[in-house]
Amino acid sequence: MKTKAIIKQFEKSVIPNYVRYPIAFAKGKGSYLWDVEGKKYLDMFPGWAVSGLGHCHPHVVKAIKKQSGELLHMFNLFYMQPQGELADWIFKKSKGLQSFFCNSGAEANEGAIKLARLHSPKGKSEIITMKNSFHGRTYAAVSATAQPKYHEGIKPIVGGFKYVEFNNINALKKAITKKTCAIMLEPIQGEGGVNIPDKSYMKAVRKLCDDKGLLLILDEVQTGMGRTGKYFAHQLFGIKPDIMTLAKSLGGGVAIGATCAIPEVAKSMKPGTHASTFGGNSLACAAGIAVFETIEKEKLLSASVKKGSYLTKKLNELKKKYPVIKSVRNCGLMIGIDLTKSGQPLVNICLADGLIINCTHDTILRWIPAMTVTTQEIDKGLKLFEGALKKWH
Ligand SMILES: Cc1ncc(COP(=O)(O)O)c(C=O)c1O
Repeated sequence: MKTKAIIKQFEKSVIPNYVRYPIAFAKGKGSYLWDVEGKKYLDMFPGWAVSGLGHCHPHVVKAIKKQSGELLHMFNLFYMQPQGELADWIFKKSKGLQSFFCNSGAEANEGAIKLARLHSPKGKSEIITMKNSFHGRTYAAVSATAQPKYHEGIKPIVGGFKYVEFNNINALKKAITKKTCAIMLEPIQGEGGVNIPDKSYMKAVRKLCDDKGLLLILDEVQTGMGRTGKYFAHQLFGIKPDIMTLAKSLGGGVAIGATCAIPEVAKSMKPGTHASTFGGNSLACAAGIAVFETIEKEKLLSASVKKGSYLTKKLNELKKKYPVIKSVRNCGLMIGIDLTKSGQPLVNICLADGLIINCTHDTILRWIPAMTVTTQEIDKGLKLFEGALKKWH
Protein backbone atom coordinates (compact mmCIF):
# COMPACT_ATOMS: atom_id res chain seq x y z
CA MET A 1 0.00 0.00 0.00
CA LYS A 2 1.16 3.52 -0.74
CA THR A 3 1.27 6.25 1.95
CA LYS A 4 -1.83 8.02 0.60
CA ALA A 5 -3.94 4.85 0.81
CA ILE A 6 -2.69 4.10 4.34
CA ILE A 7 -3.55 7.62 5.49
CA LYS A 8 -7.04 7.28 3.96
CA GLN A 9 -7.58 4.05 5.87
CA PHE A 10 -6.50 5.77 9.10
CA GLU A 11 -8.86 8.67 8.46
CA LYS A 12 -11.73 6.22 8.13
CA SER A 13 -10.96 3.72 10.88
CA VAL A 14 -8.41 4.93 13.41
CA ILE A 15 -9.32 7.27 16.30
CA PRO A 16 -7.58 10.58 15.52
CA ASN A 17 -5.84 11.12 18.89
CA TYR A 18 -2.36 11.63 17.39
CA VAL A 19 -0.97 14.38 15.17
CA ARG A 20 0.88 12.19 12.68
CA TYR A 21 3.47 13.09 10.06
CA PRO A 22 2.29 12.05 6.58
CA ILE A 23 4.80 9.21 6.36
CA ALA A 24 4.18 5.46 6.69
CA PHE A 25 7.13 3.31 7.66
CA ALA A 26 7.55 -0.23 6.41
CA LYS A 27 11.00 -1.36 7.52
CA GLY A 28 13.66 -0.60 10.10
CA LYS A 29 17.23 -1.73 10.71
CA GLY A 30 19.53 -0.25 13.36
CA SER A 31 19.34 3.54 13.13
CA TYR A 32 17.56 3.53 9.76
CA LEU A 33 13.93 3.42 8.67
CA TRP A 34 12.41 3.08 5.21
CA ASP A 35 8.97 4.38 4.30
CA VAL A 36 6.58 2.43 2.07
CA GLU A 37 7.85 4.32 -1.00
CA GLY A 38 11.42 3.25 -0.14
CA LYS A 39 12.76 6.62 1.15
CA LYS A 40 15.45 6.12 3.80
CA TYR A 41 15.51 8.04 7.10
CA LEU A 42 18.16 8.31 9.80
CA ASP A 43 16.36 7.84 13.11
CA MET A 44 17.73 9.79 16.09
CA PHE A 45 14.53 9.27 18.08
CA PRO A 46 13.90 5.56 17.53
CA GLY A 47 10.51 4.43 18.71
CA TRP A 48 10.14 7.28 21.23
CA ALA A 49 13.04 5.76 23.19
CA VAL A 50 11.67 2.23 22.79
CA SER A 51 14.19 1.01 20.24
CA GLY A 52 17.24 1.48 22.45
CA LEU A 53 19.09 -1.21 20.51
CA GLY A 54 17.99 0.28 17.19
CA HIS A 55 15.26 -1.15 14.99
CA CYS A 56 14.97 -4.93 14.74
CA HIS A 57 18.20 -5.83 16.53
CA PRO A 58 19.13 -9.30 15.20
CA HIS A 59 19.56 -10.82 18.68
CA VAL A 60 16.11 -9.62 19.78
CA VAL A 61 14.53 -10.78 16.50
CA LYS A 62 16.18 -14.21 16.91
CA ALA A 63 14.94 -14.53 20.50
CA ILE A 64 11.39 -13.57 19.50
CA LYS A 65 11.41 -16.07 16.61
CA LYS A 66 12.63 -18.85 18.88
CA GLN A 67 10.16 -18.08 21.68
CA SER A 68 7.19 -17.72 19.31
CA GLY A 69 7.85 -21.25 18.04
CA GLU A 70 7.72 -22.61 21.61
CA LEU A 71 5.19 -20.67 23.72
CA LEU A 72 3.80 -17.21 22.98
CA HIS A 73 1.74 -16.58 26.06
CA MET A 74 1.22 -18.21 29.42
CA PHE A 75 -0.86 -16.60 32.12
CA ASN A 76 0.23 -15.90 35.65
CA LEU A 77 -1.39 -18.83 37.43
CA PHE A 78 1.62 -20.84 36.26
CA TYR A 79 5.39 -20.38 36.16
CA MET A 80 7.33 -19.72 32.96
CA GLN A 81 11.09 -19.58 32.54
CA PRO A 82 11.45 -16.34 30.49
CA GLN A 83 9.62 -14.23 33.14
CA GLY A 84 11.81 -15.53 35.95
CA GLU A 85 14.95 -15.05 33.87
CA LEU A 86 14.11 -11.46 32.95
CA ALA A 87 13.23 -10.64 36.57
CA ASP A 88 16.60 -12.10 37.54
CA TRP A 89 18.44 -9.75 35.14
CA ILE A 90 16.63 -6.77 36.69
CA PHE A 91 17.28 -8.10 40.21
CA LYS A 92 20.99 -8.46 39.47
CA LYS A 93 21.49 -5.15 37.66
CA SER A 94 19.40 -3.11 40.12
CA LYS A 95 21.07 -4.80 43.11
CA GLY A 96 17.99 -6.42 44.55
CA LEU A 97 14.71 -5.14 43.07
CA GLN A 98 11.92 -7.69 42.45
CA SER A 99 9.65 -7.24 39.42
CA PHE A 100 5.96 -7.29 38.54
CA PHE A 101 5.51 -7.26 34.76
CA CYS A 102 2.91 -5.37 32.75
CA ASN A 103 2.74 -3.95 29.24
CA SER A 104 3.58 -0.23 29.20
CA GLY A 105 5.11 2.65 31.12
CA ALA A 106 1.79 4.03 32.30
CA GLU A 107 0.80 0.62 33.60
CA ALA A 108 4.14 0.23 35.38
CA ASN A 109 3.44 3.56 37.12
CA GLU A 110 -0.12 2.49 38.01
CA GLY A 111 1.47 -0.52 39.73
CA ALA A 112 3.98 1.71 41.53
CA ILE A 113 1.27 4.08 42.80
CA LYS A 114 -0.90 1.21 43.98
CA LEU A 115 2.05 -0.51 45.64
CA ALA A 116 3.07 2.68 47.49
CA ARG A 117 -0.45 3.02 48.90
CA LEU A 118 -0.79 -0.68 49.64
CA HIS A 119 2.47 -0.63 51.57
CA SER A 120 1.80 2.53 53.58
CA PRO A 121 -0.09 2.77 56.87
CA LYS A 122 -3.79 3.69 56.75
CA GLY A 123 -4.30 7.42 56.21
CA LYS A 124 -0.97 7.88 54.43
CA SER A 125 -1.80 7.95 50.72
CA GLU A 126 -0.56 11.25 49.33
CA ILE A 127 2.16 11.14 46.68
CA ILE A 128 4.29 14.16 45.78
CA THR A 129 5.30 14.42 42.12
CA MET A 130 7.20 17.00 40.09
CA LYS A 131 6.10 19.83 37.81
CA ASN A 132 6.92 19.07 34.16
CA SER A 133 6.91 15.34 34.89
CA PHE A 134 5.46 12.72 32.58
CA HIS A 135 4.23 9.38 33.88
CA GLY A 136 1.75 8.22 31.20
CA ARG A 137 -1.86 8.58 30.15
CA THR A 138 -3.86 6.11 32.24
CA TYR A 139 -5.82 7.77 35.03
CA ALA A 140 -3.48 7.49 38.01
CA ALA A 141 -0.37 7.97 35.84
CA VAL A 142 -1.75 11.10 34.19
CA SER A 143 -2.90 12.38 37.60
CA ALA A 144 0.67 11.95 38.84
CA THR A 145 1.85 13.87 35.76
CA ALA A 146 2.11 17.49 36.86
CA GLN A 147 1.28 19.18 33.57
CA PRO A 148 -2.17 20.81 33.55
CA LYS A 149 -2.52 20.41 29.75
CA TYR A 150 -2.81 16.64 30.21
CA HIS A 151 -5.66 17.06 32.73
CA GLU A 152 -7.82 19.23 30.50
CA GLY A 153 -11.24 17.74 29.79
CA ILE A 154 -10.75 14.57 31.84
CA LYS A 155 -11.42 15.82 35.38
CA PRO A 156 -11.97 14.64 38.02
CA ILE A 157 -8.50 13.14 37.96
CA VAL A 158 -7.31 10.68 40.62
CA GLY A 159 -6.83 12.45 43.95
CA GLY A 160 -3.96 12.35 46.38
CA PHE A 161 -1.21 13.89 44.26
CA LYS A 162 0.65 17.09 45.15
CA TYR A 163 2.97 18.82 42.68
CA VAL A 164 6.20 20.64 43.43
CA GLU A 165 9.06 22.17 41.47
CA PHE A 166 11.67 19.68 40.20
CA ASN A 167 15.22 19.98 41.55
CA ASN A 168 14.07 22.14 44.49
CA ILE A 169 14.53 20.34 47.81
CA ASN A 170 12.95 23.10 49.92
CA ALA A 171 9.73 23.01 47.89
CA LEU A 172 9.64 19.26 48.42
CA LYS A 173 10.26 19.51 52.16
CA LYS A 174 7.45 22.06 52.51
CA ALA A 175 4.94 19.84 50.67
CA ILE A 176 5.30 16.85 53.00
CA THR A 177 2.40 16.30 55.41
CA LYS A 178 1.26 13.54 57.78
CA LYS A 179 -0.63 12.06 54.83
CA THR A 180 2.38 11.77 52.50
CA CYS A 181 3.42 8.22 51.66
CA ALA A 182 5.78 8.65 48.71
CA ILE A 183 7.77 10.93 46.46
CA MET A 184 7.67 10.05 42.76
CA LEU A 185 9.97 11.45 40.09
CA GLU A 186 11.92 10.76 36.93
CA PRO A 187 15.68 10.80 37.67
CA ILE A 188 15.96 12.87 34.47
CA GLN A 189 12.77 14.42 33.08
CA GLY A 190 12.41 13.26 29.49
CA GLU A 191 9.21 14.62 28.00
CA GLY A 192 9.60 17.61 30.35
CA GLY A 193 12.66 18.70 28.35
CA VAL A 194 15.66 16.50 29.30
CA ASN A 195 15.93 18.18 32.70
CA ILE A 196 18.92 16.81 34.59
CA PRO A 197 18.77 17.40 38.37
CA ASP A 198 21.74 18.07 40.63
CA LYS A 199 23.33 15.03 42.22
CA SER A 200 22.99 16.74 45.61
CA TYR A 201 19.23 17.11 45.02
CA MET A 202 18.73 13.43 44.24
CA LYS A 203 20.76 12.45 47.31
CA ALA A 204 18.74 14.90 49.44
CA VAL A 205 15.46 13.40 48.12
CA ARG A 206 16.64 9.93 49.16
CA LYS A 207 17.65 11.21 52.60
CA LEU A 208 14.35 13.03 53.01
CA CYS A 209 12.48 9.80 52.26
CA ASP A 210 14.61 7.93 54.81
CA ASP A 211 14.17 10.61 57.48
CA LYS A 212 10.39 10.91 57.02
CA GLY A 213 9.65 7.22 56.36
CA LEU A 214 8.49 7.86 52.77
CA LEU A 215 8.85 5.63 49.74
CA LEU A 216 10.98 6.84 46.85
CA ILE A 217 9.43 5.94 43.48
CA LEU A 218 11.68 6.49 40.46
CA ASP A 219 10.10 6.43 37.01
CA GLU A 220 12.88 5.05 34.80
CA VAL A 221 10.57 4.32 31.88
CA GLN A 222 12.61 6.60 29.61
CA THR A 223 15.95 6.74 31.45
CA GLY A 224 16.21 3.01 32.14
CA MET A 225 18.06 0.30 30.24
CA GLY A 226 21.40 1.90 29.60
CA ARG A 227 21.26 5.08 27.60
CA THR A 228 22.55 7.26 30.45
CA GLY A 229 25.62 5.05 30.79
CA LYS A 230 24.14 3.06 33.68
CA TYR A 231 21.39 0.48 33.49
CA PHE A 232 19.24 2.77 35.61
CA ALA A 233 19.81 6.53 35.86
CA HIS A 234 19.54 6.56 39.66
CA GLN A 235 22.85 4.69 39.73
CA LEU A 236 24.49 7.88 38.42
CA PHE A 237 23.37 9.66 41.57
CA GLY A 238 24.52 6.96 43.96
CA ILE A 239 21.02 6.32 45.36
CA LYS A 240 18.53 3.43 45.35
CA PRO A 241 14.77 3.69 44.94
CA ASP A 242 12.21 1.72 46.94
CA ILE A 243 10.09 1.37 43.80
CA MET A 244 11.24 1.77 40.19
CA THR A 245 9.34 1.56 36.92
CA LEU A 246 10.61 0.42 33.54
CA ALA A 247 9.14 0.05 30.04
CA LYS A 248 10.11 1.49 26.64
CA SER A 249 13.46 -0.09 25.68
CA LEU A 250 13.13 -2.97 28.18
CA GLY A 251 11.55 -5.07 25.40
CA GLY A 252 13.74 -3.87 22.51
CA GLY A 253 10.57 -3.00 20.55
CA VAL A 254 8.14 -5.45 22.15
CA ALA A 255 5.54 -4.05 24.58
CA ILE A 256 6.53 -4.64 28.20
CA GLY A 257 6.62 -2.70 31.45
CA ALA A 258 7.80 -3.50 34.96
CA THR A 259 7.07 -2.24 38.46
CA CYS A 260 10.14 -3.14 40.51
CA ALA A 261 10.58 -2.84 44.27
CA ILE A 262 12.80 -3.77 47.17
CA PRO A 263 11.51 -7.07 48.64
CA GLU A 264 10.31 -5.44 51.87
CA VAL A 265 7.96 -3.19 49.87
CA ALA A 266 7.24 -5.69 47.08
CA LYS A 267 5.66 -8.09 49.55
CA SER A 268 2.74 -5.67 49.96
CA MET A 269 1.64 -6.58 46.43
CA LYS A 270 -0.11 -9.66 47.77
CA PRO A 271 -2.23 -12.06 45.67
CA GLY A 272 -5.46 -10.30 44.74
CA THR A 273 -4.09 -6.75 44.96
CA HIS A 274 -2.80 -6.39 41.40
CA ALA A 275 -2.54 -8.36 38.14
CA SER A 276 -2.14 -8.20 34.37
CA THR A 277 -3.32 -10.80 31.84
CA PHE A 278 -0.50 -10.15 29.37
CA GLY A 279 2.07 -9.04 31.95
CA GLY A 280 5.25 -11.09 31.88
CA ASN A 281 4.21 -13.12 28.85
CA SER A 282 6.87 -15.39 27.43
CA LEU A 283 7.36 -13.49 24.17
CA ALA A 284 7.91 -10.07 25.76
CA CYS A 285 10.19 -11.53 28.43
CA ALA A 286 12.29 -13.41 25.84
CA ALA A 287 12.77 -10.07 24.08
CA GLY A 288 13.73 -8.40 27.39
CA ILE A 289 16.33 -11.09 28.13
CA ALA A 290 17.81 -10.54 24.65
CA VAL A 291 18.03 -6.79 25.39
CA PHE A 292 20.08 -7.38 28.56
CA GLU A 293 22.30 -9.93 26.77
CA THR A 294 22.94 -7.46 23.94
CA ILE A 295 23.77 -4.56 26.26
CA GLU A 296 26.34 -6.79 27.98
CA LYS A 297 27.78 -8.35 24.81
CA GLU A 298 28.08 -5.09 22.87
CA LYS A 299 29.21 -3.09 25.95
CA LEU A 300 26.49 -0.52 25.27
CA LEU A 301 26.69 1.24 28.66
CA SER A 302 30.18 2.61 28.06
CA ALA A 303 29.34 3.13 24.36
CA SER A 304 26.40 5.37 25.35
CA VAL A 305 28.66 7.61 27.43
CA LYS A 306 31.27 7.87 24.66
CA LYS A 307 28.84 8.48 21.82
CA GLY A 308 26.72 10.84 23.91
CA SER A 309 29.79 12.98 24.71
CA TYR A 310 30.83 13.01 21.05
CA LEU A 311 27.39 14.04 19.82
CA THR A 312 27.06 16.71 22.53
CA LYS A 313 30.51 18.13 21.72
CA LYS A 314 29.57 18.41 18.04
CA LEU A 315 26.20 19.97 18.85
CA ASN A 316 28.00 22.52 21.03
CA GLU A 317 30.19 23.38 18.03
CA LEU A 318 26.99 24.03 16.05
CA LYS A 319 25.79 26.23 18.91
CA LYS A 320 28.73 28.57 18.28
CA LYS A 321 27.69 28.92 14.62
CA TYR A 322 23.91 29.11 15.06
CA PRO A 323 22.70 31.50 17.79
CA VAL A 324 19.24 29.90 17.63
CA ILE A 325 20.81 27.11 19.73
CA LYS A 326 20.81 28.42 23.32
CA SER A 327 22.28 25.41 25.10
CA VAL A 328 22.94 21.70 24.76
CA ARG A 329 22.83 19.20 27.63
CA ASN A 330 23.13 15.46 27.81
CA CYS A 331 23.29 12.46 30.02
CA GLY A 332 24.80 9.73 27.86
CA LEU A 333 22.59 9.39 24.82
CA MET A 334 19.75 11.49 26.20
CA ILE A 335 20.25 14.91 24.66
CA GLY A 336 18.29 18.13 24.96
CA ILE A 337 18.86 21.25 22.85
CA ASP A 338 17.31 24.54 24.00
CA LEU A 339 16.32 26.83 21.14
CA THR A 340 15.46 30.51 21.17
CA LYS A 341 12.19 29.79 19.31
CA SER A 342 9.67 27.02 18.54
CA GLY A 343 11.49 23.97 17.23
CA GLN A 344 8.76 22.12 15.32
CA PRO A 345 9.48 23.87 11.96
CA LEU A 346 13.11 22.73 12.27
CA VAL A 347 12.02 19.17 13.06
CA ASN A 348 9.85 19.26 9.93
CA ILE A 349 12.76 20.39 7.73
CA CYS A 350 14.95 17.63 9.22
CA LEU A 351 12.24 15.08 8.47
CA ALA A 352 11.89 16.22 4.85
CA ASP A 353 15.67 15.79 4.54
CA GLY A 354 15.56 12.29 6.05
CA LEU A 355 16.44 12.91 9.72
CA ILE A 356 14.10 12.05 12.59
CA ILE A 357 14.42 14.07 15.83
CA ASN A 358 11.80 15.30 18.31
CA CYS A 359 10.65 18.60 19.76
CA THR A 360 9.18 18.80 23.25
CA HIS A 361 7.89 21.75 25.29
CA ASP A 362 7.90 23.93 22.18
CA THR A 363 11.54 25.02 22.22
CA ILE A 364 13.48 21.90 23.22
CA LEU A 365 14.82 19.40 20.69
CA ARG A 366 15.35 15.84 21.83
CA TRP A 367 17.88 13.44 20.34
CA ILE A 368 17.59 9.97 21.85
CA PRO A 369 19.57 7.82 19.41
CA ALA A 370 19.86 4.06 19.71
CA MET A 371 22.72 2.89 21.93
CA THR A 372 23.99 0.99 18.88
CA VAL A 373 24.32 4.19 16.81
CA THR A 374 27.70 4.48 15.06
CA THR A 375 29.96 7.54 14.90
CA GLN A 376 29.38 7.64 11.13
CA GLU A 377 25.62 7.74 11.71
CA ILE A 378 26.04 10.53 14.27
CA ASP A 379 28.16 12.49 11.77
CA LYS A 380 25.55 11.97 9.08
CA GLY A 381 22.81 13.12 11.46
CA LEU A 382 24.81 16.24 12.35
CA LYS A 383 25.32 17.05 8.67
CA LEU A 384 21.60 16.74 7.98
CA PHE A 385 20.85 18.81 11.09
CA GLU A 386 23.23 21.58 10.07
CA GLY A 387 21.71 21.58 6.57
CA ALA A 388 18.27 22.02 8.13
CA LEU A 389 19.55 24.78 10.44
CA LYS A 390 20.91 26.66 7.39
CA LYS A 391 17.57 26.37 5.60
CA TRP A 392 15.67 27.48 8.70
CA HIS A 393 17.94 30.34 9.68
C1 LIG B 1 9.10 8.83 32.06
C2 LIG B 1 7.91 8.21 31.40
N1 LIG B 1 7.02 7.52 32.16
C3 LIG B 1 5.94 6.94 31.62
C4 LIG B 1 5.69 7.02 30.27
C5 LIG B 1 4.47 6.36 29.70
O1 LIG B 1 4.83 5.21 29.01
P1 LIG B 1 3.79 4.49 28.03
O2 LIG B 1 3.55 5.42 26.89
O3 LIG B 1 4.48 3.22 27.65
O4 LIG B 1 2.55 4.24 28.82
C6 LIG B 1 6.57 7.73 29.44
C7 LIG B 1 6.31 7.85 28.00
O5 LIG B 1 6.82 8.67 27.29
C8 LIG B 1 7.71 8.33 30.02
O6 LIG B 1 8.57 9.03 29.29
